[in-house]
Amino acid sequence: MCSTLFLEFGTMQPYLNDKSTRIFSIFTSLNSYIMAKLKSVYFCSNCGYESPKWMGRCPSCGEWSTFVEELMRKDAASKQEDTRSFLEGKSVPMTLREIKADEEPRIDMQDAELNRVLGGGLVPASVVLIGGEPGIGKSTLVLQTILKLKGIRSLYVSGEESARQLKLRAERIGIENDDCLIVCETNLDDIFKHVKQVSPQLLIIDSIQTVYSDALESSPGSISQVRECAASLLKFAKQSGTPVLLIGHITKEGSIAGPKILEHIVDTVLQFEGDQHYMYRILRSIKNRFGSTAELGIYEMNQSGLREVSNPSELLLTQNHDGLSGVSIAAAIEGVRPFVIETQSLVSTAAYGTPQRSATGFDIRRMNMLLAVLEKRAGFKLAQKDVFLNIAGGLRVNDPGMDLSVISAVLSSSLDMTIDRETCLCGEVGLSGEIRPVNRIEQRIQEAEKLGFSRMLIPANNLKGIQKKTSIELHQVKRVSDAFRLLFS
Ligand code: TYD
Ligand code: MG
Repeated sequence: MCSTLFLEFGTMQPYLNDKSTRIFSIFTSLNSYIMAKLKSVYFCSNCGYESPKWMGRCPSCGEWSTFVEELMRKDAASKQEDTRSFLEGKSVPMTLREIKADEEPRIDMQDAELNRVLGGGLVPASVVLIGGEPGIGKSTLVLQTILKLKGIRSLYVSGEESARQLKLRAERIGIENDDCLIVCETNLDDIFKHVKQVSPQLLIIDSIQTVYSDALESSPGSISQVRECAASLLKFAKQSGTPVLLIGHITKEGSIAGPKILEHIVDTVLQFEGDQHYMYRILRSIKNRFGSTAELGIYEMNQSGLREVSNPSELLLTQNHDGLSGVSIAAAIEGVRPFVIETQSLVSTAAYGTPQRSATGFDIRRMNMLLAVLEKRAGFKLAQKDVFLNIAGGLRVNDPGMDLSVISAVLSSSLDMTIDRETCLCGEVGLSGEIRPVNRIEQRIQEAEKLGFSRMLIPANNLKGIQKKTSIELHQVKRVSDAFRLLFS
């Protein structure tokens, strides 16, 4: 708009007197200064795609109305170029045989759960992003970890909390460590000055959305800032060999705020999740260049920070539901970890016209599918019933092997008949009511055996995959009706 105004002013120039011409020339030079320094760039807020003009639909990720305008200094573009080219120049093409693949020495984080999720410890020069909802415990997890790391100099850069708040948190955690330094800073250049002074062996940025670089005009947390700061920190990690832990916020939709590009830049993305009203938290690996993404860490938030839960089945063992209907026990697998977990259900006659369906810790669409299978394939009339489902401990389980346990809990509540407490279940339910095989059956059986279950219902097709001898009495089920007969007759 500014430039059109100047243009119109320009066409009027011949009719103006000397004074006006002088003012005009000041304006023109100011205008050209602004134009030279700032430019508008549009970013897709979903994937970080950059475009010189606004677009309705992102050509990269296909999302609609995701473009946002950000002002950038022209010289910032050249700065960004340098960040990207930091790895260039010294590489020489070679055959795979010539490449040495020695096992990377890893830093032991003094936390079995974190080590497991990282794939055996933190790799030097790697950048790890820890995402999660506000208040879930990201800062607590990181602070507690570096406090435990005696002998490793770490620098914790906090952009969200004051040093006093961090002190109070450290007091709750109750560990003292003089190798751990704290600084409250959000300017990237100042952060690097501190880093130069301290030369830490581990750098923590809490959070990446609060850090900003002077090279860009946009505000902290904007796509270009997050991208630029993450790229500079990556460059620092790779050049100095110092591992960097970035804490990132999560958007309402559940993805890490800032563009997807952040996930591409870093080596490892961990997600910290759980229900704030429950004590249990899960640390999940979403991307890991140095390990498996099937790993899972489980913590319990208590008065003095996070406690590692090495035996997840203890979530179940604390409860005693003898003689209650609507409770069934599943041998589930999350990632590669087996655990035995309780499924609770309540079925009651709908008080209103439309029956209510609610699930906590389980996919509600899958629950609706299972209810339809019960209705159509096993003849249970649930269409006029309210159905509530809850997975104990506030955990969210995505394992399809939970299906059989969900169906059994619903039937148990609907019929008001209890399921024997010594029985454990696993199996996926298909649309025609068949029980389909599950993965890692031996691990599930072992876990149930370890916890003293005497009977287990497993899919018939899994039976031939079992090599090891077990003391558990195994019952094979082919259809939902088989399970029903075994449990309630
Ligand atoms: P925090 O680490 O600040 O979360 P985030 O950085 O993900 O926003 O965690 C804050 C929550 O953790 C807060 O609700 C209090 C709770 N908490 C405990 O229950 N026990 C503790 O020892 C600590 C330090 C925090
Ligand atoms: Mg925090």
